[in-house]
Amino acid sequence: MRVLVTGASGQLAHAIRLVWTDHELILPEESVLDLSKEEAIHSVVSSVRPDVVVNCGAFTQVDRCESEPELAQKINATAVGWLAEACEAQKSMLIQISTDYVFDGTGTRPYREDDPTNPVSVYGRTKLEGERQAARCTRHLIARTSWLYDAWGKNFLNTMLNAAAQGRALRVVDDQRGAPTTCRALARQLKVAAEQGWQGLVHTTCAGETTWHGFAKAIFEGKGITADLRPCTTADYPTPARRPAYSVLDGAHRRALGPDLMPDWRDALQDVIDHPDPV
Ligand SMILES: NC(=O)c1ccc[n+]([C@@H]2O[C@H](COP(=O)([O-])OP(=O)(O)OC[C@H]3O[C@@H](n4cnc5c(N)ncnc54)[C@H](OP(=O)(O)O)[C@@H]3O)[C@@H](O)[C@H]2O)c1
Repeated sequence: MRVLVTGASGQLAHAIRLVWTDHELILPEESVLDLSKEEAIHSVVSSVRPDVVVNCGAFTQVDRCESEPELAQKINATAVGWLAEACEAQKSMLIQISTDYVFDGTGTRPYREDDPTNPVSVYGRTKLEGERQAARCTRHLIARTSWLYDAWGKNFLNTMLNAAAQGRALRVVDDQRGAPTTCRALARQLKVAAEQGWQGLVHTTCAGETTWHGFAKAIFEGKGITADLRPCTTADYPTPARRPAYSVLDGAHRRALGPDLMPDWRDALQDVIDHPDPV
C-alpha cells in the first residue's frame, strides 16, 4: 500500500515510520503538508494518490487549545474535512486518530464506541468535530486512543524521566483514570486495521487502567529510579483545560474485528523500557 502520513514530526507518525516498513510510506514535512492550508492538503493528496492516509497531525496541546480555540478548530476539525474530501476524490482510505477526551469522564465503566460523547475541553470538542469530518470520507476508520507515549517524543514518560533526572519533587494527579498507550502498539494495530480494511469507529488503547500517579510510579519502578513522587488531586493542580476523571475505553468492538495487538499497559511500558528502539 502507498501510505501518506500527516504530522510527520509527531510521536505516533514516528512509530508508523518504524513499524509500517513493508509499505510505501510518504511522510511530508509540516511545511509541505500544512494542515492549516486547504490547497496544500488537496495538492499533496492528489499528487501522492495514496491507498491510505493516516492523519497523525493535530493540535495536541490540550491546555493551549483553550486559549487558541480557532487554531484548534482549524487543525483538529476543519483540516480533517479537507482531508476527507481529498481522500474521497482519490478513493483513499482515511484513518483519523481521535481521543478519549471526547467523553466527559463521568462514566463508571469503560466507554464503548456508541456511548454518548460530551467533551469538556476545546481539544475534546474539536477532535469530536474531526471525527464527524472524517466520516465524510466513504472509506474511513476513526481510532480513538488515549495517553499516548513512547521512548521518543514529547509525552508523560519523558516529562517524568526528565523531572526525576533534575531531582524535582513530583506531585502527580491520582484521580484521573485512563489507559497509557504506546505509539508502537497503536501503530502495529493500525497497520493490521489498514491491511484488513477496517471501517467505522474503534477504541484502540492498551488494556487495563491506572491513574497518572500510578503510571508515574510504574515508570520509576520499571526504570529502577528513586524519585520524590507523591499523589495529588486534580483540584491541587489546576490547568486551563478540564480533563475527564475517567476515560478508559472499551476495546471489545475492536477485538471482534480482527487480531488484538494491544498489550496490557504494564507490558507495553516494560517493552518501551527494555527496547527504546522497537525495531
Ligand atoms: N498524545 C496523546 O496523549 C493522545 C491521546 C489521544 C489521542 N491522540 C491523538 O493522536 C494523534 C497523534 O498524536 P501524537 O501524540 O503523535 O501528537 P504529537 O506528537 O503532538 O504529533 C502531532 C503532530 O502534528 C503536527 N502538527 C501541528 N499542526 C500541524 C499543521 N498545521 N500541519 C501539519 N502538522 C501539524 C505537530 O507539529 P508541531 O509539534 O510542530 O506543532 C506534531 O508533530 C493526534 O490526532 C492526537 O490528537 C493523542
